[in-house]
Formats: sequence, C-alpha cells, structure tokens
Amino acid sequence: MRNRPIGVFDSGLGGLTAVREIQRIMPGEDIIYFGDTGRVPYGTRSRETIIRYTKDDIDFLLRHNIKLIVAACGTASSVALPVLYDKYDVKIMGVLEAACKKAVSVTKNNRIGVIGTVGTVKSGKYAELITKLNPKMQVFSAACPLFVPLVENGYSESKAAQLIAKDYLLPLKNEKVDTLILGCTHYPLLTKVISDIMGDEVTLLSPGALAAQEARGYLEKENLLSDKESGTSQFYVSDSVENFAELGGTFLGKPIKSSVHLAEAFEQ
Ligand code: DGL
Repeated sequence: MRNRPIGVFDSGLGGLTAVREIQRIMPGEDIIYFGDTGRVPYGTRSRETIIRYTKDDIDFLLRHNIKLIVAACGTASSVALPVLYDKYDVKIMGVLEAACKKAVSVTKNNRIGVIGTVGTVKSGKYAELITKLNPKMQVFSAACPLFVPLVENGYSESKAAQLIAKDYLLPLKNEKVDTLILGCTHYPLLTKVISDIMGDEVTLLSPGALAAQEARGYLEKENLLSDKESGTSQFYVSDSVENFAELGGTFLGKPIKSSVHLAEAFEQ
C-alpha cells in the first residue's frame, strides 16, 4: 500500500503547485496527475457541472491504484468535495483546510483576503472555514475569473496580467488585508504579478503547496509514506499534451514532455 502513487487532480495546470511541493518534501512518492485541460475552466461553471467533472477526475485517478487523492483545485474542493467526500473509500484531501488554518495562524491584523474562481467565491467555503476557526477574523473575497485563462495560455507575466490583476486586487489592498489566500491553485503561477500589487508586507498563501504538506502529515501518521528513495511523476491531460508539457515543465523547473500523456478515457 505505501508504495502506491498519490493521485492529484485539477482542471489544468494549477494542481502542479501541489505536485511541486510533493516532489520537494516527499521525493520518494510516485505521483499520478490528472489535468482536465479539455474542460478547463471549472470555476465559471454550474455547481452540477463542477460536481460531475470532479467525479470524473476522481474516477480516473482511482483506475491507477492510488493511496490518497489530493484535489488540488479550489473550485472542486469548495463546490464538489463537500458532497463527494464520503462516497469513496480512498482518502480525498481538498485544499481549503490547510490554507485556512495557515491564514488564521499568520495574520496579525485579522484581515484575510481570499481570491478564487467565481464558483469558489460563490460557495463562501473559505470564509466559512476561516470564521469557524476563529470568529474574530474578517474575510474579504474577490473572484478573479480571467486569471485561469491567462495562466493556461502562458500569459502569467504579461502586461495584460498586470492590468487585470490591478483591477481585481486593489479593492483587497484597500481593505488592508495582511494575508491573501490564492484560493485557486492556478494563482500561485501569477505570484510575481500579485505580490507586485499587494506589496511585500502581505503574506501570499498557496493552497496547493499547503495541501501537499498536509498530505505528508497524513501519510506519516498512517504509516503510508513511500519507502523508495525517488519516485516518478506521470501526467495525464484531457487535451493538448504539448501545451501542458511546455508550461508545466517551466513551472516544475524540469522537462516533463516524456511523462505527459493523453488520458484515454477523455480522448475526444
Ligand atoms: N485551479 C482550479 C481552482 O483551484 C480551477 C480553476 C478553473 O478551472 O476555473 O479553482
């Protein structure tokens, strides 16, 4: 059981924020990644559709004999997981809990910003969890629907990204948040643009990376950490292998082309 892979999924590239951290802190783990690039974005879709897509993603990973699933997608975690969690035997972790706990522990002025997709912000789950952890917290949320297409198309550091980010983020900056949860896993790929606007004094949190740390804690506790020295990562996508390989390889800091495959069940 311990040497089975960890399954990670997202609508596209965003879940690589979890993969990068898993590779860093658990180098012995095998990873099966699924990016639903043929159907990205999830965040602008209806609740029913997000639940259906999330179910497909989980079912795909289950075919790979995995020991744990990390739903490295803020939208799936906040909209779909609450109704899907208990339908599976395998442990499924979302990205909300670790990020909310961290935000509550690092904020000094109790003013926390959350940015995410329309679906995530509409669900209100981040705010709900944060105020449940500490009712003194004030949460300011904003949906940033254009961020995902910017990332998926390789425009993360463009002028367009800067202009759009200013529009989305200035209201949160004006609220004087000192901690900002990048509540969609795609957003850490825009870290430079976001931190230029928010300033060094605002702590940016990456839910994908924090979920990876939480996953390590879980595997350790359950005695399920791999005993191998180095693991492999295989990436499956439901659309263009090339685009994912290029942008994903840049983000992970190493070429991944030979490990990126078209997911057969999703072949169109
Ligand atoms: N990366 C995802 C999230 O964390 C999904 C973005 C999208 O597909 O809209 O919300």
